[in-house]
Amino acid sequence: TGTPTLAVIPGDGIGPEVTAEALKVLEVASPVKFESTRYDLGAERYLATGEVLPDSVLAEIREHDAILLGAVGGKPNDPDLPPGILERGLLLKLRFELDHYVNLRPSRLFPGTASPLAEPVLQKGEIDFVVVREGTEGPYTGNGGALRVGTPGEIATEVSVNTAYGVERVIRDAFARAEKRPRKKVTLVHKTNVLVNAGSLWWRLFEQVAAEHPDVTTDYIHIDAAMIFMVTDPARFDVVVTDNLFGDIITDLAAAITGGIGLAASGNVNPDRTAPSMFEPVHGSAPDIAGQQKADPTAAILSGALLLDHLGHAAAAAAIEAAVLADLTERAPGATRRTSEVGDAIAARL
Ligand code: NAD
Ligand code: IPM
Ligand code: MN
Repeated sequence: TGTPTLAVIPGDGIGPEVTAEALKVLEVASPVKFESTRYDLGAERYLATGEVLPDSVLAEIREHDAILLGAVGGKPNDPDLPPGILERGLLLKLRFELDHYVNLRPSRLFPGTASPLAEPVLQKGEIDFVVVREGTEGPYTGNGGALRVGTPGEIATEVSVNTAYGVERVIRDAFARAEKRPRKKVTLVHKTNVLVNAGSLWWRLFEQVAAEHPDVTTDYIHIDAAMIFMVTDPARFDVVVTDNLFGDIITDLAAAITGGIGLAASGNVNPDRTAPSMFEPVHGSAPDIAGQQKADPTAAILSGALLLDHLGHAAAAAAIEAAVLADLTERAPGATRRTSEVGDAIAARL
């Protein structure tokens, strides 16, 4: 009811460049016109004002139907921008405050797209899986500290927080997604052999939820071995459910084997819809190529498709995917197009 509202956070580095293309494509693909509000959060605002995410801005963002984010974060080791200020204070704060407990990261090797994987690996089957990464707990909660900093006796801890409530809900979401996919398979990736406290909780709840889904095939792989299979037999994955940090790492590798980080989209989803979900590329602000129109906006554009799908516009989302697929098939190897040219080409197909 009413005009749907979109909070747009272009952010830093290539964030604004790729977000402009995602909006360009949303504009033509969406069956509804969004009322968008732009929020100038990120490094520039922090450096100018010291503000990262004021409570009043968070309260405003919360009132939107969805959020589109580019990327946040500055250059590594910038003395004016201590690590984590924006990552923790802006990105993770949004994920935690808006209860984005499902960090949804689909990986598909679109036909015709180059993969660094060898031909015999690609022959094993279609690469089409989705990582359901827990988004509000694990080692990301900021639970830890440092003692005797700067001395030879320094001790630093980052305690991983895993609650039965948090683990169960993300596992349930993974099974519900598997039920809707042709292969109906869920793989739990963890490190139950070493992280025995968290591992035992994850394993027990995984078994418990699995028992309620007799038609879903289950599998368990330790995180280290999962990295082997990701490059030797990625076709074995369908839905992967995992902890926040493992999921972060898995999804950069998953992107690398399916056409590169420039294609990987994600949704920070609040499945209960108690707050807006947020859609963003898996990649970061890429300071090494920022401001040069060199970034591939495809990941941001596909994140826009996930956003439309979340808001109930499945056909429009599929149309964006089809336009991207067509564009990828025609991308000449070695050819370079400007960020805006890629956005124009995809928009023109819609
Ligand atoms: P990154 O993803 O920004 O870059 C890694 C490499 O991938 C770089 O070589 C970059 O040029 C390339 N790359 C990334 N996106 C690309 C695109 N669309 N097209 C072409 N090439 C692309 O990761 P990083 O270098 O580890 O992090 C840079 C900054 O971004 C850090 O401050 C980090 O904290 C932040 N970060 C933010 C997010 C986010 O906002 N969701 C995600 C990851 C990293
Ligand atoms: C990502 C990023 C973030 C994460 C950082 C920037 C907080 O790497 O979205 O994958 O670790 O989740
Ligand atoms: Mn990451």
